[in-house]
Amino acid sequence: MSTLFQGNTCVVGLQWGDEGKGKIVDFLAEHAEVVVRYCGGANAGHTVRIGSEKYATHLLPVGVFRPGVLNLVGNGVVLDPAVLFAEIDEFVGRGVVITPENLKISYKTHLVMPYHMQEDAAREAKGGKSGIGTTKRGIGPTYADKMQRTTALRVADLIHEQNLKSKIEMVVTERNKVLKVLYDMPPLDWREIFETYRDYGRRMAPYVDDVSHLLIQSWKAGKRILFEGAHAVLLDVDHGTYPYVTSSNCSSLGLFTGAGAPPQLVQNYLGIMKAYSTRVGGGPFPTEQDNEIGNYIRERGNEYGTTTRRPRRCGWLDCMALKYSVELCGITAVCITLLDVLSGLDHVKICTGYKHKGVTLDYFRADMDTLADVEPVYEILPGWRGNISGCHKFEELPREAQTYVKRVEQIIGAPIRLVSVGPDRNATILR
Ligand code: IMP
Repeated sequence: MSTLFQGNTCVVGLQWGDEGKGKIVDFLAEHAEVVVRYCGGANAGHTVRIGSEKYATHLLPVGVFRPGVLNLVGNGVVLDPAVLFAEIDEFVGRGVVITPENLKISYKTHLVMPYHMQEDAAREAKGGKSGIGTTKRGIGPTYADKMQRTTALRVADLIHEQNLKSKIEMVVTERNKVLKVLYDMPPLDWREIFETYRDYGRRMAPYVDDVSHLLIQSWKAGKRILFEGAHAVLLDVDHGTYPYVTSSNCSSLGLFTGAGAPPQLVQNYLGIMKAYSTRVGGGPFPTEQDNEIGNYIRERGNEYGTTTRRPRRCGWLDCMALKYSVELCGITAVCITLLDVLSGLDHVKICTGYKHKGVTLDYFRADMDTLADVEPVYEILPGWRGNISGCHKFEELPREAQTYVKRVEQIIGAPIRLVSVGPDRNATILR
């Protein structure tokens, strides 16, 4: 492994998610001893291929596929216990080892409750076309309760079973009133929810720990730590294309609070970018190609959501947005994924700037009114042909593909050190 990844590394998506972080975290986890999730919940979907087996994770850190790795779920995650246990049961059934020895969950992690999912779905249905286009996993309402405080439930509440009953009774009774008034929903039975979550708590207890403490101890012991970012910079609730974002700080900036780690603990910030752009859900997308180019990318790249199977919106690479993400997150190296998807096109386009009301903008503003109204400025490069998935060295790629990577690197201002040319673990070129 290159000296590039000596020290601890945060892996973060630089676009609107689905950049192929799962594969890269799995690739790097070979040299890691600890893998940590710090944001988001079961709205994430990371895909890992090991031989002929394909796994989709939503909550479990991708390190579970590497024997000897300690996997941590940080306090910044929102945890749906039903999804967690379904994932554990599925993977264990397929021979993956997941025990309280290699998986630890922070007692500070907040819980997704059934009424969060109902509220998410009802809000989206009411919003219609102008809705955010959420994954309906209850993510927004859970983070809202976290900030609200008195209506939130954390993993710690499951462990302190004696208080759980009265808390769930109080919260569900109140929420039933709100959901009735807002969405005319029938009431949920708090006893049923209590019994379900009490049982979740009993099953979860052996996995619950102080993740922040474990992380700091691992750091002191010189262990190699990998932070597995979910979603991406442009979906960050503060720095993304608000309000068309998720509800967590899913840029690299969120790792310090979301995992409970001091800034000095991380030396490398590896940004993952696709060779083109995609997004799911609503919101402006300046380089979107709602045409045969978009369809070509969607079909070749299998651009359908891992979590919801929704077709993703596809378009040319937006280097304005990428430069913003690189600078904001202190990116020290970049991995470009899905370069193979662009093979077969006569030419490829890169967005190098925006025009807004006749004025050229020289940096990306995550401001919806501006973004909805910009005209991308493109640079056109020659395309390349052939299957590049078997290339093991950068120099083996068609010259045009090499030029594409080098030009992107120049514009975004960060070195592209990894090039992923296929879904397999080994289809990764280290430059
Ligand atoms: P939520 O996270 O379910 O609330 O959805 C908010 C927005 O973020 C929607 O546009 C989702 O499609 C998008 N989103 C959330 N997670 C992901 C992801 O992992 N990949 C791509 N889009 C995501």
